[in-house]
Amino acid sequence: MKWYRVPVEDINKPFIKKIKAGTKSICLVGYEGKIFALGATCPHAGGDLSIGWCNNGKLVCPFHRYSYDLTTGKGSTGQNDYVNTYPVEIREQSVYIGVSTFWEKLKTIFE
Ligand code: FES
Repeated sequence: MKWYRVPVEDINKPFIKKIKAGTKSICLVGYEGKIFALGATCPHAGGDLSIGWCNNGKLVCPFHRYSYDLTTGKGSTGQNDYVNTYPVEIREQSVYIGVSTFWEKLKTIFE
């Protein structure tokens, strides 16, 4: 897994922004004192989740209001979809996002 340092002005304030970590577009969310990293593209019809909002621990897509759990990426009941989630670490007031390659993910299946 490769870790990417991403710019966040104030990790204690709520925010939603799109960042790049390697080749991945990630929606970085500061919500209720925690930071979450999810895929930035809505699986429903490709909407940009970084222009959405948070409600009850979920990230809401602004286009058709599908919503995704900030922790698991799982879509709400009836959606049958999900967005990828990425590990987040705070190191000395900087935010790092962990991104695994396809082969690293495949390897974990057989371990
Ligand atoms: S594009 Fe996100 S809910 Fe439709």
